[in-house]
Amino acid sequence: MRQKFVAGNWKMHGSKASVEALMAGLIKQADQAGAAKIAVCPPSLYIDQVVTALRNAGCENIAVGAQNMTTEPDSGAFTGEVSARMLKDVGCEFVILGHSERRAMFAETNEVVAEKVKTALENDLTPILCIGETLAEREAGKLEAVISEQVEAVLSVVGIDAFAKIVIAYEPVWAIGTGKTASADQAQEVHAFIRGQLAKSNPQVAEKVVIQYGGSMKPVNAQELMAQPDIDGGLIGGASLKAEDFIAICQAAGA
Ligand code: PGA
Repeated sequence: MRQKFVAGNWKMHGSKASVEALMAGLIKQADQAGAAKIAVCPPSLYIDQVVTALRNAGCENIAVGAQNMTTEPDSGAFTGEVSARMLKDVGCEFVILGHSERRAMFAETNEVVAEKVKTALENDLTPILCIGETLAEREAGKLEAVISEQVEAVLSVVGIDAFAKIVIAYEPVWAIGTGKTASADQAQEVHAFIRGQLAKSNPQVAEKVVIQYGGSMKPVNAQELMAQPDIDGGLIGGASLKAEDFIAICQAAGA
């Protein structure tokens, strides 16, 4: 039985004041969040503030992740970059890698994403590996080819056993921030396909991999999506910026 996992991707949103308010709301409601594993992924600058707020409140059921990191693991002359070691140092357990916004706007290729996954694993961070197709790719019948390539690029670098420590987030690009969610059936079909891809290398590992759905997941559709047999949680953008909505989605994961 896979534990459901709900993570909030705050993207480039927030200020010291809004982070303080959001954390106060999450901490207040954390004990009603149910049995799912929960994480929040703030912008890097606010990670320390979030970790400190959780520690001061004695709140142990919310973990913290980052939204990106560089392939260089430690330190060096890489102006503007953040390393895996730094993320560990400030208290991160997770790091989102290969989000479609980074692939599209910051030229992250499958190869770069695979290197980042490897670096994260070597530094004891759990990658949340984002994959997903654009609308044009889906309409051109390339859905399975795109997903396979994205999975295979990482598989060929880290090997199947490493997937026991990787979370996958299936995020159809056309559903991100658009209000258009994949239907539960559409999402389930792709999740099963992803698990099937991994099962070709090792069925036991494939069975254990947590595969989140992401793309306009909200309290109103979360339960139906997460009730699907291969949907093991959610990566939540917009709805993770409101404590009430995020906690409601966490509750739906346990329902
Ligand atoms: P959304 O974003 O929930 O706002 O669609 C999801 C994501 O990009 O991770």
